[in-house]
Amino acid sequence: MKVFITRKIPALAEETLINKGVGVTVFKKDRSITSDELIKGAKNADGIISLLTDKIDKNVIDQLPNCKVIANYAVGYNNIDIVYAGEKGIVVTNTPDILTDATADIAMALMLACARRIPDGEEMMRSDKFVGWKPQLLLGIELRGKTVGIIGAGRIGQETARRAKAFGTNIIYYNRSLKPEFEKETGAKKVSLNKLLKTSDIISLHVPLNDKTMHMLNSENMELMKERAILINTARGEVVDEKYLIKMLREKRIFSAGFDVYYNEPKVNKALLKLKNAVLLPHLGSATFEARDGMAKLAADNILNVLNTKKAITPVN
Ligand code: NAP
Ligand code: GLV
Ligand code: GLV
Repeated sequence: MKVFITRKIPALAEETLINKGVGVTVFKKDRSITSDELIKGAKNADGIISLLTDKIDKNVIDQLPNCKVIANYAVGYNNIDIVYAGEKGIVVTNTPDILTDATADIAMALMLACARRIPDGEEMMRSDKFVGWKPQLLLGIELRGKTVGIIGAGRIGQETARRAKAFGTNIIYYNRSLKPEFEKETGAKKVSLNKLLKTSDIISLHVPLNDKTMHMLNSENMELMKERAILINTARGEVVDEKYLIKMLREKRIFSAGFDVYYNEPKVNKALLKLKNAVLLPHLGSATFEARDGMAKLAADNILNVLNTKKAITPVN
């Protein structure tokens, strides 16, 4: 059995596979693999560990004759045509749960960074502009008593809500299905998307990207946001009409926005870089030692299960 890994990930993945007698090849370059390189590298592979930066569409899938399993090293899988892969007999898996805490921490960190203007303060210190405490210096927003609106109350959305609740906020959410256990635990209330946008002080996005969630926040419904609203996106850039959000930030129509993900990554709209009321992170949601090791192990175990004709642990198709 042969497995191709599209970029260096924690050694645990390779070790887990090699221990079970699987041959492993890793793409050597320290950059994202191109489609042509992936097709070439995975030509004889029975399984692939892919990254969220690898676009695995019909064209690529058609050129993976031996592939039985693609284990995406991420919980999101919008980079893969999972339906077409399924038609070709390829099982696609992801890495849920293990990265939930790490990503919820980043959402919470962005909320605090936006509310308390942490990057502005940092910049002031590093540019040696701090001349002493003053009453009106970089005033921000307190979390206690505020309403946090969670869009997509799944694993990460719920964990983010738990963190926000510990800061004294009230939780509302918009989700496909009702989450009775979550409501009981946190007092959260399910509302329509428009009601959430109208009444939240902080809005945090946690839906997966697909045809239904593309531009879920658009030029019309974003106008419903409060003047002092904070919008956090750790989901996927394309869930928001980013151009319109940039316009709103430029016109100071909301207080601020925290970004971990961007439209058309890895490109970043240069207008964002100039906005003082945007906090920008380079897609760090799952970037902890703990989460990345867990993701590596789970991806390898998914591959082993499928190649040994057992059920995948976390299949998505
Ligand atoms: P999850 O547990 O599947 O949660 C997604 C939630 O969104 C579910 O509760 C789902 O509702 C809801 N949802 C899906 N489609 C919807 C729609 N059209 N309208 C309303 N609600 C909808 O996924 P997760 O593990 O929390 O991950 C969420 C996303 O976060 C991933 O897909 C990924 O894109 C992103 N992510 C980013 C990072 C990062 O580094 N920034 C890290 C990890 C994940 P149901 O419960 O009814 O199905
Ligand atoms: C990261 O963005 C993931 O989907 O795991
Ligand atoms: C601030 O540092 C305070 O003591 O209130």
